[in-house]
Amino acid sequence: MNAIGKNIHTLRKQNGFTQEELACKLGVTYQAVSKWENCTTAPDISLLPELATVFGTSIDALLGYAAEKKTSAYYEERYKDTEYYWGVKPSFMCLEVLRILPPEKPLRVLDAGCGEGKDAVFFAKNGYKVSAFDITGSGIEKAKRLAERHGVDIDFFRADILDYRLEKKFDVIFCSGVLHYLPEEQRGEVLENWKRHTADSGVNALNVFVEKPFIQNPPDHEPGHFPSWHSGELFGHYHDWRFERCEEVIFDCNSSGVPHKHCMDTLIAVKETAL
Ligand SMILES: C[S@@+](CC[C@H](N)C(=O)[O-])C[C@H]1O[C@@H](n2cnc3c(N)ncnc32)[C@H](O)[C@@H]1O
Repeated sequence: MNAIGKNIHTLRKQNGFTQEELACKLGVTYQAVSKWENCTTAPDISLLPELATVFGTSIDALLGYAAEKKTSAYYEERYKDTEYYWGVKPSFMCLEVLRILPPEKPLRVLDAGCGEGKDAVFFAKNGYKVSAFDITGSGIEKAKRLAERHGVDIDFFRADILDYRLEKKFDVIFCSGVLHYLPEEQRGEVLENWKRHTADSGVNALNVFVEKPFIQNPPDHEPGHFPSWHSGELFGHYHDWRFERCEEVIFDCNSSGVPHKHCMDTLIAVKETAL
């Protein structure tokens, strides 16, 4: 899906319109709406103001610019510092992947939302062939410097998890601290795309913040942070894979100087082929 087709689909669902209802409001056929959402065609530019009004949004948001600016601005600034905001120590999930699927043959890893690149660099240093993306330019620049410092070659690029879809397969898809940016209606589609583009016996290693009725939103609740996932929701998307690690942990956090708690679901799952 291109950005506008995907956004029309998402906004139509969010507003509770059928394709027929939206078509009627705009004076077009429902087939036209269906074609926009399937990306066979795009709406005429003269329809954009009316589309934005019907959805109660801006033309920028319709074209996919607003969300990108919001999320990138938050980390874009934080990554400008010379210090590594997330440190340079890899996540424990990297060690788990190394244990489950060691690179005894050439294996491709994708790190989605790689931030400043600490996990991508870990994988590359251990012999994996790594691609990694983030929405921020400053994060990607810093990640490239980290890779250079460690003498590893990584395919870093800028992309938005909301509209970037895989077209080739990876042995490992790794995503840490990012899935909470996915709005509910896009979660199934993105994870299906990742599952389909995971090689047989490949691994997906993912984590996500989840809602608990007894845990309040953090005091430094960040803009562009979509409502949290339900506890266990991530695991359900992978019901047909083998679970190597499936856990929910509540932990203390002191970001912003105010003590609070987070709850996180972690899943490391293997794509088994049928016997
Ligand atoms: C909590 S940090 C985690 C970074 C990295 N995975 C790590 O563990 O060090 C969240 C990252 O998600 C990135 N991000 C936020 N929204 C994104 C989006 N829509 N597409 C891609 N990356 C995004 C941010 O720029 C940030 O680097």
